[in-house]
This record gives sequence, structure tokens and C-alpha cells, in this order.
Amino acid sequence: MKELQERIMRDGKVLSESVLKVDSFLNHQVDPQLTMNIGQTFAELFKDEGITKVLTIEASGIHFAMATAFALGVPFIYAKKKKAITLSEEVYAAPVHSFTRQETYQISVSRQYLSAEDRVLIVDDFLATGAALIGLTQIIKESGAHTVGIGAVIEKSFQEGRGLLEQTGIRIESLARIKSMSVNHMEFIEPATS
Ligand code: G4P
Ligand code: NA
Ligand code: NA
Repeated sequence: MKELQERIMRDGKVLSESVLKVDSFLNHQVDPQLTMNIGQTFAELFKDEGITKVLTIEASGIHFAMATAFALGVPFIYAKKKKAITLSEEVYAAPVHSFTRQETYQISVSRQYLSAEDRVLIVDDFLATGAALIGLTQIIKESGAHTVGIGAVIEKSFQEGRGLLEQTGIRIESLARIKSMSVNHMEFIEPATS
């Protein structure tokens, strides 16, 4: 997505070889027009898939899931994060290990909102190690629903997430794929999807 790549080049800050700060427009302060355009782009890419729900994880996936679900005319769900591993019969749950925070937390979705009839599109801000996204695929699997695909706003292609998720055969669409980056350099994998 050209608009997104240009915005990353203009306003993104590379903090290290692996961390990109985009909190002036994407995940702290948010540009609503860009967000809606991202949702429209995901909706266009997956429009023929019979999607019934969009699924993300709190916090910084929520506005992208909202924009995508709005464009598709379906509800969205955000998985909740909890530190305590309290298992409950009312939720589907999966453990996620955060490499940045060096902790394992649990993500959960109420059983009320996902079932075997659902066709689910996962949306998130970053595809990095893939840990959170794999957790979301486990939740969908547990519910008996079908994972139609994953829409990632920014993919750091040099990290292992895409490779891990490709092994599951799930379709992945990333709107900006960063091949490599450093403080004064950024290279995208071309062509960007759409
Ligand atoms: P993922 O690939 O499945 O997203 O999982 P990973 O464990 O690698 O990412 C951990 C968290 O860090 C995620 O946020 C992810 O969005 C975020 N993240 C990964 N790489 C970057 C980066 O380069 N820049 C920024 N700004 N964030 C990055 P989260 O745990 O879901 O937390 P939240 O911020 O959504 O609340
Ligand atoms: Na996230
Ligand atoms: Na994040």
C-alpha cells in the first residue's frame, strides 16, 4: 500500500535494527483517514472469502479491525490479554509469549462470539515474531471456526513470523513489508500488496 509505505518513510522512526516506532500515526496517536484506507484495502483483498468476523488483539490492533470490519459489514472481536492464567469454561484461550516483554500472557475470547460457522479474518498492526497472531489462530481453531487469512498492517519480513505462519498454510496479506531497516535506511519488499 503506497500511502502507508510513504507514511512509514516520512514519519516512522527506526529505534534499532528491529524496532520501528510508528506512534505518531499508527499505534498511539492515530491517523483516522489512513486507518480507514487500511481497512478498505484489507476488505478489498478478502472480499470474496465470505468473512463473518474480524478478530484482533488489544490494544493496537483494535482500530484496524474496526476499519476492516466496517468496510466488510461484519462485527469485529478483540481478544483480551490477561496476566493471570485463570482458565474459565466461558472462553477460548491461548498462551502468548512476548519476546519484547519477556513474559507469557493469556489471550481469550468469549465462547459466545466465535463458533464453527464463522469465517474469520485476523487483523493486527505488526507481523513480527508472529507470537500473538499464532495465539489468535489457536483460538479460532479451538472454536471450530475457519481462519480465512491474516491482514498485517506492517510486516517486518526479517523476523520469523511470516515463515512460521506460512507453514500453517494461512493466507497472509501485509500492506507494508519491510525487508530491512536501520536508522537511516529502509527497504521494502516490492511490490506492496495493492
Ligand atoms: P506478533 O508478531 O504476533 O505481533 O507478536 P510479537 O510478540 O512479535 O509482538 C509483540 C508486540 O510488539 C505486539 O504488540 C506487536 O504489535 C508489537 N511490535 C512488534 N514489533 C514492533 C515494532 O517494530 N514496533 C512497534 N511499535 N511495535 C511492535 P502487542 O503485544 O499486541 O501490544 P499492543 O501494543 O497491541 O498493546
Ligand atoms: Na499488536
Ligand atoms: Na503493538
